[in-house]
Amino acid sequence: MKSTTTFATEFQQDPVDDTDKPDGGVPRPSLVCHLAILTATFCALVFCAHYAVQGNMASVIVSSLPLLSSVAVDQNSVPPEQPVVLNEEHAPLTAQATVFETSRSTTAPAPAPSDRCDGHYIYMYDMPARFNDDLIRDCGNLHPWLDMCPYSANDGMGMPLGDEGGVFPGRGWYSTDQFMLDLVFHSRMKRYECLTNDSSLAAAVFVPFYAGLESGRYLYNHSTSVRDALQLDAIDWLVRRPEWGVMGGRDHFLVAGRTTWDFRRKADLDELWGTKLLRYPAVENMTVFVLETSPWNWTNLAIPYPTYFHPETGTDVLAWQEKVRKADRRWLFSFAGAPRPGSNKTVRAEIIRQCRASSHCNLFHCGGVVGGGSADCNSPAGVMRVFESSQFCLQPRGDTATRRSTFDAIVAGCIPVFFHPGSAYTQYTLHFPRDHGRYSVLIPHAGLTAGNVSIEETLSKISPEELRRMREEVIGLIPTVVYADPRSRRVGFRDAFDVAVEAVIDRVAKRRRGEADDGREH
Ligand SMILES: *[C@@H]1O[C@H](CO)[C@@H](O)[C@H](O)[C@H]1NC(C)=O
Ligand SMILES: *[C@@H]1O[C@H](CO)[C@@H](O)[C@H](O)[C@H]1NC(C)=O
Ligand SMILES: *[C@@H]1O[C@H](CO)[C@@H](O)[C@H](O)[C@H]1NC(C)=O
Ligand SMILES: *[C@@H]1O[C@H](CO)[C@@H](O)[C@H](O)[C@H]1NC(C)=O
Ligand SMILES: *[C@@H]1O[C@H](CO)[C@@H](O)[C@H](O)[C@H]1NC(C)=O
Ligand SMILES: *[C@@H]1O[C@H](CO)[C@@H](O)[C@H](O)[C@H]1NC(C)=O
Repeated sequence: MKSTTTFATEFQQDPVDDTDKPDGGVPRPSLVCHLAILTATFCALVFCAHYAVQGNMASVIVSSLPLLSSVAVDQNSVPPEQPVVLNEEHAPLTAQATVFETSRSTTAPAPAPSDRCDGHYIYMYDMPARFNDDLIRDCGNLHPWLDMCPYSANDGMGMPLGDEGGVFPGRGWYSTDQFMLDLVFHSRMKRYECLTNDSSLAAAVFVPFYAGLESGRYLYNHSTSVRDALQLDAIDWLVRRPEWGVMGGRDHFLVAGRTTWDFRRKADLDELWGTKLLRYPAVENMTVFVLETSPWNWTNLAIPYPTYFHPETGTDVLAWQEKVRKADRRWLFSFAGAPRPGSNKTVRAEIIRQCRASSHCNLFHCGGVVGGGSADCNSPAGVMRVFESSQFCLQPRGDTATRRSTFDAIVAGCIPVFFHPGSAYTQYTLHFPRDHGRYSVLIPHAGLTAGNVSIEETLSKISPEELRRMREEVIGLIPTVVYADPRSRRVGFRDAFDVAVEAVIDRVAKRRRGEADDGREH
């Protein structure tokens, strides 16, 4: 399935200076930090009941009623939702904290919609279909040699996955492509509770242009003019809107669901990789969400890669958290991936060597064009089964610094092990705790390639108590890194989309107040 994965040609402009080579088609996930206070407050006031858990700062977001209190009539027909733990303030989570009895605050009537949405309205352009819907209608052409139609189904989640021998619960799981975020995000936005048609009320303006999806059509083998055409068209359309003029686009945001390296071409030479999307002055004024940002430029923000999990409600999240908490993790660590071709001195080669040599490591060695192994890393069940049976999941750099696999691991409750801070810590600052040690392990890659560090020894030193605590932290991150089912009308937990939207609202508010905006307020 993973269609858009790694082909050597895709990485001509690989900015990563180490010698890692691409995964042979491993779904590529990633990570980020928190907007704890702002969001908790926001949630409290706006969408959800919010409970501070005594003794630590963990917060429980109780799934909201359908937003309008007038729906109270329907309450009895809606199964009560369970709370979902978010690790606000990055406090350690306890099992008890996740199971928090909720009363659907029937006593406190929800505020009128206008109050709830005050400061959180989003204005979404109604763009000509060539910028979004037509691309999906023409899904057979979204990739030069892969059929993306199955992946664009179900609002970008792809085809539903069955229970796959008990790996999945049979609902909420889809065969999702890592580059489908443009569509998933837009679909989620269509259900955003505080949309407005009055742009003067809006805290931010969403541009539903599928910049990532459309560029996938031409990245591989087309002239720069073909690659740039629709992007220039979109910018031209945008800067003519009256809404643009208000702040020169500085209150606008866009999702380009690929890495920054696909949009940073420096010159108009056909042999150079990518489009120039992120280099146009108009786009530089906007906030663009990508899957990975440049370490040298923080004006765009990285948000999680989509995973296979798209819960419809908080209850689905809780049930999954409970499942992975109880999972039998018989492997100390695992690696799902492939070496990069060419060298046997890379981090990946060393990881594979050490994994093979250890009876505590599960090597899921990808096959395929550049894989060299025989495992099917495009099988969601295959990959998730590995991660659910491991304590630690190794996440070396992939084609670029980040990998979708990181997010798949977190969803499986597997503690990620990074070899470079750029794989997560400097990327997903909105969605991941600031204190990296709470949820992950960093083994500097230099030691590994120098051959003086044993992964097994390093991980074995972590006490069972510490391990348990880290895993709880990871499990607490699950709701925050997944994208809820975009069709759901009662999501009821704060997902990766909510975190991103809150961040952009916060950024635009700062810009309006004339405060410094280094693009990295967290
Ligand atoms: C905005 O206008 C469109 C078109 O008239 C309408 O379909 C939509 O419901 C309106 N949205 C809101 C939030 O009022
Ligand atoms: C790219 O397309 C051109 C024109 O169709 C063709 O000549 C060339 O071989 C293609 N290159 C690759 C790498 O596929
Ligand atoms: C970007 O924002 C600046 C500052 O508001 C403004 O002067 C400039 O015109 C904007 N650029 C475009 C292309 O609108
Ligand atoms: C980063 O991007 C901003 C706006 O997009 C641009 O003004 C700045 O020159 C860039 N910085 C670097 C170091 O490229
Ligand atoms: C690793 O590469 C070196 C130099 O190319 C070669 O001598 C050695 O046999 C290779 N080792 C393995 C295990 O492939
Ligand atoms: C391992 O080698 C790296 C690179 O030479 C070095 O920075 C690191 O200090 C070494 N670690 C140990 C434990 O010797």
